[in-house]
Amino acid sequence: MSDTSTVKEAISKLRHEIERHNRMYYIEAKPEISDYEFDRLLEKLIALEKQYPELVTPDSPSQRVGGTITRNFPAVQHSEPMLSLANTYSLGEVEDFYNRVTKLLALESVYEQEMVAELKFDGVAVSLLYRDGLLVRGATRGDGFQGDDITANIKTIATVPLRLSETGESVSEQRKATVEVRGEVFMRKDDFERLNESRPEEDRFANPRNATAGTLKLQDSAEVAKRRMYFVAYWLKGVGGESTAHFERLELLQQLGFYTGGNYRLCRSLDDIGKFIGKWSEKRWKLPFETDGVVLKLNDVRQWEKLGATAKSPRWAIAYKYPAQQAETVLRDVVFQVGRLGTITPVAELEPVRLAGSTVSRSTLHNFDEMERLGVMLHDRVVIEKSGEVIPKVISVVLDKRPREAMPVAIPHVCPECATPLLKPENEVSWYCPNEQECPAQIRGRILHFASRDAMDIKTLGRALVDQLVDVGLVRDVSDLYFLQEPQLERLERMGRKSAQNLLRALDESREKSYDRLLYALGIRHVGRATARELAKAYPSLEELMQAGEEELSTVPDIGPSIAWSIRDFFSRPSIPALIEKLRDAGLQLKASGQSALVNRNFEGISVIFTGTLERYGREKASEMVVERGGRITGSVSKKTGLLVAGKEPGSKLEKARKLGVRVITEEEFEAML
Ligand code: IVH
Repeated sequence: MSDTSTVKEAISKLRHEIERHNRMYYIEAKPEISDYEFDRLLEKLIALEKQYPELVTPDSPSQRVGGTITRNFPAVQHSEPMLSLANTYSLGEVEDFYNRVTKLLALESVYEQEMVAELKFDGVAVSLLYRDGLLVRGATRGDGFQGDDITANIKTIATVPLRLSETGESVSEQRKATVEVRGEVFMRKDDFERLNESRPEEDRFANPRNATAGTLKLQDSAEVAKRRMYFVAYWLKGVGGESTAHFERLELLQQLGFYTGGNYRLCRSLDDIGKFIGKWSEKRWKLPFETDGVVLKLNDVRQWEKLGATAKSPRWAIAYKYPAQQAETVLRDVVFQVGRLGTITPVAELEPVRLAGSTVSRSTLHNFDEMERLGVMLHDRVVIEKSGEVIPKVISVVLDKRPREAMPVAIPHVCPECATPLLKPENEVSWYCPNEQECPAQIRGRILHFASRDAMDIKTLGRALVDQLVDVGLVRDVSDLYFLQEPQLERLERMGRKSAQNLLRALDESREKSYDRLLYALGIRHVGRATARELAKAYPSLEELMQAGEEELSTVPDIGPSIAWSIRDFFSRPSIPALIEKLRDAGLQLKASGQSALVNRNFEGISVIFTGTLERYGREKASEMVVERGGRITGSVSKKTGLLVAGKEPGSKLEKARKLGVRVITEEEFEAML
C-alpha cells in the first residue's frame, strides 16, 4: 500500500470496525468475533499506524492498549466538587427525602416532582474531560475537590469514548465546548474472579470495587488495559442547555457514545420509586456486575442549585442501599487450612443454606483473632452475610439460640498437617506453620500453584494427583515433577499407562512456558502475574534477578519495598539454588525469550533511566531499544543506576544522579550509543 489515501481509508475502516466490536462486546453484550480475532484486528491497525505514524490520531483504538508508565499521578482540580451521596437503608427514609424535597421547593403537590431512579454501581467515581470532542483528561474523585490525573489508565477502558460521537443536533452544536462527564468505573464479577485467580492467594482483592480501585492506581497502563473495566456515565456538563433535565442528559450521554447501563427510570411518584427499588432487589443478583442500591435524583436540574448541598452530599439526590443479604445456619465444624505460604486459615463448615442466589456450606473465618472476636462455638447458630463480597462471611453468633451441646473450638498450637509448633509474626494477624520445607500442605500448595492456569498451566496435574505424588514421596518440590518416570506414575492409584503418559507430555510441554510465567509459578510472596511480567522485563534472566538487591528491585514499576523484600527473602533461602539448578537441568525457560535476539549488546548489564522529554523517540520506544540491546530500565535513581539519559526539561532525577555520581548523557549521545 503506497497511496496515502488508500492507507487512510484502510485505517479508518479498521478503526470503525474495532470500535464497533468494542460496542458489541462491552455495551450490547453480543460479541460477534472472538477475543483472538479482535486482537488480530487491533494488531493490524497498530502495524499500519507504525508504518504511517503521521496517520495516528488520539482517538484511534490503538491508543487503548496502554504502554505509558506514569510514576506519579499529577493532582488536578475539579471544576466543581465531586460530591458523595447521603445513604438511606429504608423505604421510610426514602419517603422522608421525597417529602423534604417537596417541602423545600414549596411545590404545590408531590405529583409535580419527578425523580430519576438509577442503579448504584459499586465501583470508583471518575471525571472525564473533553475538549473539541476529544478526551483530554481522566481523573479520580480524590477528596472531592482535587483528584489524581489517571488519563493513561482511563484511555484503556473500552466504554470511555476517546472522541464524542456527533449524532444528534444538540450534540454537534456544542462539539467545541468543554464537556465533562462523570460516572463510575467498575469491573464485572466474572472478570474480577478471573483477575483474582491470576494473583497470589495472599494478595487477592476482596471485591470488584477494590480490584477496580487498585487497577486505576497502577503505573503501567498496559497492565490496566489487560484488566477489563467498564465506565458507566451518570452526570454531564457542557452539552445541552443549562436546564436540560437529568433524564434527557442521560439520553444525551448515550448519543455521545457513553454507556449508561440503560436501567434508569423516570419516577413520577413515591409508588414508582418503591416499584423500581422492589424490582431490582432480587433482579440485581442476575446482573454481571455488583450494585448495592438505587440512586434517586431530582429530574429538574434547575432545582439542583436551589436545593444546594451539605458539606458532603447534594440535597437533590439520595442513595438507597439494599440491606446486606443474611441467613442463619448452624456451624457444624471448623477446619484449619494450611496455605502454600504456611498461613493457617480457619474455615467454617456450615449446614447448607440459600443466600443471595446460591447455596453456601463453607465460609472463611479469616484468622484466630476474628474467631475470638465472634466468640463462636461449635454447633452455634451463626449469621452469615454476603454484601459486596463474593465469598460470604460469618458476622455474628445468635447467642440466644446457643444449644446445650455447644463446644469451644479447639485452637491448634501445632500445624494440623505436620505438627510443627505454630508461630505468629509480630504485626500480623495470622499464625504460620514455619516448616516450609517439610510441611506436606505447603508442598502441595506450592505444586498446585505452580501447575495453575496462569502459572505453568499443567491441566492434568489436579489436586488428587498432587496429594498422591506428595504422600508417596515422589515429589518434594516443583523441580521433582520434571524427573518423574512412567513406571513410577503407573503404580499410583487411578493412574493407568495412558494418564501417566498424558501427565508426562503435559509436563514436557510446560518446559516451553515463558520465563515470566515461571517467575510467577515459583510462588514468591506478593509476586502475581503482573508483577512477574514487570520483573521479567527489568531482569531478562533469573540469574540477574537473583543478584538484584532490595533497593534496586524497588525501582521496578509497581514494586514497592515489601515486594522487593519478599523477592530478596525468597532467593536467599538455602533451598533455592538447588531448586533453580534442577529447573535448569529440566530445561525450563530461565531467560526471557527475546534475549537471544538482541540487536546488539551495547547496553548489556546497564540499568538506564530517562528523565525529561525525549524528542526523537517516545519513552516507550527508547526503553524498548535499551532492552533490545541487553540493558534494563529502572524508574528511580540509585547507586546502581548505570546511565541517566536527560531529555528536555529534565526533572529532579538529574540532580540526584549527579549527586550519586551516575553517568549522565544527552539524547544525542544516547542515540550514538544505540
Ligand atoms: S451520582 C452528586 N449516580 O456512589 C452525586 N453516583 O455514594 C454524584 N455511584 O460518589 C453521584 N452509582 O461514586 C451517582 N448512578 C449513580 C451512581 C453513583 C454509583 C457512586 C458514586 C458516588 C457514590 C456515592
